[in-house]
Amino acid sequence: MRDQYNREIRYARISITNRCNYRCTYCYLDNVRKEEMTLNEYEKLFEALKSIGIRKVRITGGEPTVRKDVIDIVKLASSNFKEVNMTTNGHFVKELASRLKKAGLSGLNISLDTLNERLFERITGVDGLKNVLEGIEEALIVGLKVKLNTVLTVDTKNEIFELINFAERLGVPIRFIELMPFGNFTEDLRIKEEEIFKLLETRYGKLHPTKLKPGEGPAKYYKIGKTYVGFISAFSRDICSTCNKIRISFDGKLIPCLGKNIKYDIRNLLHNKEKLEEKIRKAIFFKPKHHNFEELKTKGLNEMGG
Ligand code: GTP
Ligand code: 5AD
Ligand code: SF4
Repeated sequence: MRDQYNREIRYARISITNRCNYRCTYCYLDNVRKEEMTLNEYEKLFEALKSIGIRKVRITGGEPTVRKDVIDIVKLASSNFKEVNMTTNGHFVKELASRLKKAGLSGLNISLDTLNERLFERITGVDGLKNVLEGIEEALIVGLKVKLNTVLTVDTKNEIFELINFAERLGVPIRFIELMPFGNFTEDLRIKEEEIFKLLETRYGKLHPTKLKPGEGPAKYYKIGKTYVGFISAFSRDICSTCNKIRISFDGKLIPCLGKNIKYDIRNLLHNKEKLEEKIRKAIFFKPKHHNFEELKTKGLNEMGG
């Protein structure tokens, strides 16, 4: 369905937990234990989302793979939607990749900020780089589509070419994400898209945007060598005018926009199909025109749903 600004909403980001085995410095973890949605609840939610026109979903967290029933959730999602993808830190992917693929998952967006083991541990709090690299490899072996997510900061900036070469060798797209103002956010850590662009153009010459989009999200892509380099720049670009998604938090709230503090509690309506669909339609119709990060400084991706 379309919202009041004529944006077609067909994509849902579904956070299935606010737990995570990592503690990334830039990610806000609220650590408040709230009851996660159950498989039975997802059954009803997915039916309703499908009937109002959601076609693709992305399973996020927290870290979705810490949930014991993650495979069942993916199975259920892929029986309802045309495409199911997942965003993960990659730590448990090596063990799960083949079962995720069999459950119907199409692809994984895997976070990779650095190829340096010690810096990896400083950013995430866990000595996990090896796990992640093996996870990426396994995901590709079993035939999952992989994209890499890199939050580029002053700490990781000098690895940019190494990261692009790594992505190129594997034949996967890599996206550079501008730091957003959550949690332990410090303004001076952020590298703006303009700066990354200048850096890339000094090495690769003028970059030309591609029409091809290897995803449904807000990234803009450029072809560099044999790979696609994307930018997700909530600060430097207007990513709202073409926004096509809603979010569902792990505890059953519908969040129409990441950058606004608006939530609709839909969990209590799961037993009533008509009322549930009516509320989802209302939330979509009134999806805000634009984000406002000021409202979000005390929130984070975990609470807001990946
Ligand atoms: P695909 O393009 O389908 O791969 O999805 P995606 O890039 O949106 O998924 P992913 O979970 O990998 O998100 C990458 C980054 O983009 C994360 O930091 C997200 O929080 C951020 N992001 C995704 N959607 C939005 C949005 O609507 N607003 C803002 N500000 N950031 C977003
Ligand atoms: N700003 C930008 N991206 C962030 N992520 C987590 N916190 C932030 C933040 N403050 C990224 C992760 C992951 C994706 C889901 O969100 O690194 O790639
Ligand atoms: Fe976990 Fe992702 Fe947050 Fe890092 S950014 S702590 S991996 S949820």
